[in-house]
Amino acid sequence: MKKILVTGGAGYIGSHTVVQLIQNGYNPIVVDDFRNSQPAVIQNLEKITNQSIPFYAIDICDKTALNNVLKNTEIEGIIHFAAYKAVGESVEKPLMYYHNNVEGLINVLDWALNNNVKHFIFSSSCTVYGEPQGIKEVSEETASGIANSPYGQTKVIGEQILNDVKHSGVDLNILALRYFNPIGAHASGLIGELPVGKPNNLLPFITQTAAGLHKELTVFGNDYPTSDGTCVRDYIHVVDLAEAHVKGIDFLAQNQPKSVEFINVGTGKGTSVLEMIQTFEETTGKKLNWKFGPRREGDVVEIYANADKSREKLGWIAQYSIKDAINDAWNWEKNIRNI
Ligand code: UFG
Repeated sequence: MKKILVTGGAGYIGSHTVVQLIQNGYNPIVVDDFRNSQPAVIQNLEKITNQSIPFYAIDICDKTALNNVLKNTEIEGIIHFAAYKAVGESVEKPLMYYHNNVEGLINVLDWALNNNVKHFIFSSSCTVYGEPQGIKEVSEETASGIANSPYGQTKVIGEQILNDVKHSGVDLNILALRYFNPIGAHASGLIGELPVGKPNNLLPFITQTAAGLHKELTVFGNDYPTSDGTCVRDYIHVVDLAEAHVKGIDFLAQNQPKSVEFINVGTGKGTSVLEMIQTFEETTGKKLNWKFGPRREGDVVEIYANADKSREKLGWIAQYSIKDAINDAWNWEKNIRNI
């Protein structure tokens, strides 16, 4: 069975990808130092997949540790998730973000090139589009290269590094997946998003508020030039996103692209904050306490994916609806809070 190294494999998107890899006949090996996740995630992955999952609790910035644990392991492909991802924190601690996200990528790429790895998938983000000018549906060619935060800039730089490495003529197939807004959890209720402290993202804040952890949700801004005055995003079920990585590995194996492939992973549909609240209430039957507050600094007004390329190249389209994702996220929240 082909071995796929999954850095950050105990994290939110990484853990769901481990499940999809196993279900599609791959053999994932997890590297994760649990700084933003918990060892219990591995046990839950083992429960879901009914098999043992090899993992190494090391920091990807530690080159020696990476070399040591992976010595003599033949890895077919790497999916590189391990990175920091909080926009606000990155504004406060830019060097921490550049250090971990850029140096981590360089180390893992270096290891890949020295160890005959064939395929490499990088976690990129729709943040590389910045604020879309004019049309809000963004296709892969429209990346502005200007992100709104140091976090986003680490993704822009990451993509540039991949371009330069590929251009140097290396024998590594490279794919950068630009994620839109992942939400939801595994249907088993055993894995999901585990925000550290107060969540920044919308759906975890909604489910935590409904679970009684916060008094109310604040909707950031009500006077944006959108259909109802609140910001619009392309929310995608995390299991769909995970599946896109499996399709990505298959695609690289079949096509060996000559340059880096950049592919959006989104549903192609925009949803406003108020629509998310309404859908949450309809899906769960729970009334949510919320109020309008001021705009949040740095928020993009409206963005959603043009999903043509993922369909054409990867044969991938989103299978789950926002209702499915909300249902699974609420189920997960209830499980971890024992509600
Ligand atoms: N929102 C609220 N109240 C909250 C939280 C969020 O109204 O308490 C709103 C935001 O203002 C925004 C929408 O809900 O309009 C979505 O916000 P998220 O924080 O969930 O998602 P973002 O689109 O802002 O952020 C995501 C990723 C980042 C990435 C960014 C840009 O979480 O990693 O997209 O690509 F950098």
